[in-house]
Amino acid sequence: MSVAKRDDEIKKVTASKLQEMKLKGEKISMLTAYDFTMATLIDQGGVDVILVGDSASNVMAGYDTTLPITVDEMIYHASSVVRGVRRALVVCDMPFGSYQVEATEGVRNAVRMVQKSGCDALKLEGGIEIVPTVRRIIEAGIPVMGHLGLTPQSIHKFGTYAVRAKEEAEAQKLLDDARALQEAGCFALVLEKIPAALAKQVTEELQIPTIGIGAGHATDGQVLVGQDMLGMNQGFKPKFLRRYANLAENIMQAVSAYSEDVKRGDFPNENEQY
Ligand code: KIV
Repeated sequence: MSVAKRDDEIKKVTASKLQEMKLKGEKISMLTAYDFTMATLIDQGGVDVILVGDSASNVMAGYDTTLPITVDEMIYHASSVVRGVRRALVVCDMPFGSYQVEATEGVRNAVRMVQKSGCDALKLEGGIEIVPTVRRIIEAGIPVMGHLGLTPQSIHKFGTYAVRAKEEAEAQKLLDDARALQEAGCFALVLEKIPAALAKQVTEELQIPTIGIGAGHATDGQVLVGQDMLGMNQGFKPKFLRRYANLAENIMQAVSAYSEDVKRGDFPNENEQY
């Protein structure tokens, strides 16, 4: 039987804790969340890191890409998550357009996102080209997680969500980008949809932890979108996804039973009224 811990007994996960975990060979678990209720459950379930991903653009708002979501919308999602979390490190994605144009604008947006949401760290997509901005954000006192491989904010450049860095030249660039992000001071690196052998090479070479999604088992940790691994998104079936529940089915069954009860006049009954 699990006994709920009091707030003062809970030790918050930090960026340096993730570094320690890598050194000890302890795997890091990370899931996305975008709202208070789900964040509370995911935190109590025991993941180390909660990512307020810009995938909120797809999962929460129903857009086709991550591009439309704004800084203010990310702040809304991140502050909702922060209010539900006691233990996990909360990392929030900087959205498309908030850091690519100019370093000073990137730092200003980063400071505002941390100040308004209360999140612990930010994640930025990209390699060597974003290093000056990453450095400035870290200098401002904000821990930064990098993100290489399939970077969905560049979907129009790639033209596809297929596996990245299969060719030698792109794999070499990814290795160079990973080294540059570590050198710039990133505390961890997401590797999305790249060959497992390349993810293993990056993981062995870097001192900072790598967190994979569709990047094989050798990375220091794994991340999935919460709604995907809970089976809420029936249409999304990539090879890398393992489903741990079938909530779509459960929710539809519950809604249908409720609707039938209402129509039959069975809900509410005598015990469910005042
Ligand atoms: O936005 C997101 O959900 C992400 C993960 C897929 C890593 O960046």
